[in-house]
Amino acid sequence: MNQDLDIHLLKTAIYEAASTIKELKEGVQVFSKQHEVDLVTEADLKSEEILINAITKHYPNDGIISEESETINPDSNRTWIIDPLDGTVNYANNIPQVAITLMLLENNQPTQAYVLDIYKDVLYEGYKGQGAYKNGEELKIFKNTTMQKAIVATGFPYDRVHNSNHYMKTFEAVLQSCGGVRRFGTAALDVCWIADNKFDAYFEFFIKPWDTLGASLILEEAGGKVIDQNGGFPSLESNLIIASNNLIHQEFKGIVLSNIDESLDNRL
Ligand code: IPD
Ligand code: CA
Repeated sequence: MNQDLDIHLLKTAIYEAASTIKELKEGVQVFSKQHEVDLVTEADLKSEEILINAITKHYPNDGIISEESETINPDSNRTWIIDPLDGTVNYANNIPQVAITLMLLENNQPTQAYVLDIYKDVLYEGYKGQGAYKNGEELKIFKNTTMQKAIVATGFPYDRVHNSNHYMKTFEAVLQSCGGVRRFGTAALDVCWIADNKFDAYFEFFIKPWDTLGASLILEEAGGKVIDQNGGFPSLESNLIIASNNLIHQEFKGIVLSNIDESLDNRL
């Protein structure tokens, strides 16, 4: 692994953010955002502050897009993307499936990414053209599977409370075609777990770039495949993510794309 990558200067900060999230857990205050079921906690905000401070200290001219804040330096051609706490609903309910994502976009291309599984203390890393790593060891997909046996992870957008019917057609088609569906509530780990030979595929509508863009780079570098609704690698504008171990990519993509409810036609 190339040791000179910019993201390495931020490694201490991501571990500091993770410790803070764990320390704040007891009695943490939980607030709702736009949707009643979309939560934010003091820990999301504190983790974000630690990461933004570290980026602005080392790279003051770079842009930053972070879930709970306004964009910083929006015109920069280098932009850090932060999800300070992925799995806030898990965290607020004592479910230890929680991650932090930190990644760098250069000229709109993801080039360096960390996804830290906070409670298992596993750091996933991905570097464009330079591989994927799990706690410093090279990560490669070796799991062999068929669509009928595949374990598929997914999640639902927060508007599911009112629009659950928009998502059922795709969900049902996937349910009928695979070995099992899992909904673990932390999208970055859902995608990293394909790279880590646990899940075989993942799809989700209207997931935000901070949730899966970093994990998508890690997955592709481990040998997987990730596309959005237009068929290319995801971008800041993607509205549907389809990820897989590559072996079942064509079949899985076909099942998802041919079973999208027409109510979503003008939203994708
Ligand atoms: C959420 C999680 C969840 C996914 C939601 C995301 P957050 O992220 O990744 O798995 O289904 O769509 O919003 O809000 O906990 O950072
Ligand atoms: Ca989050």
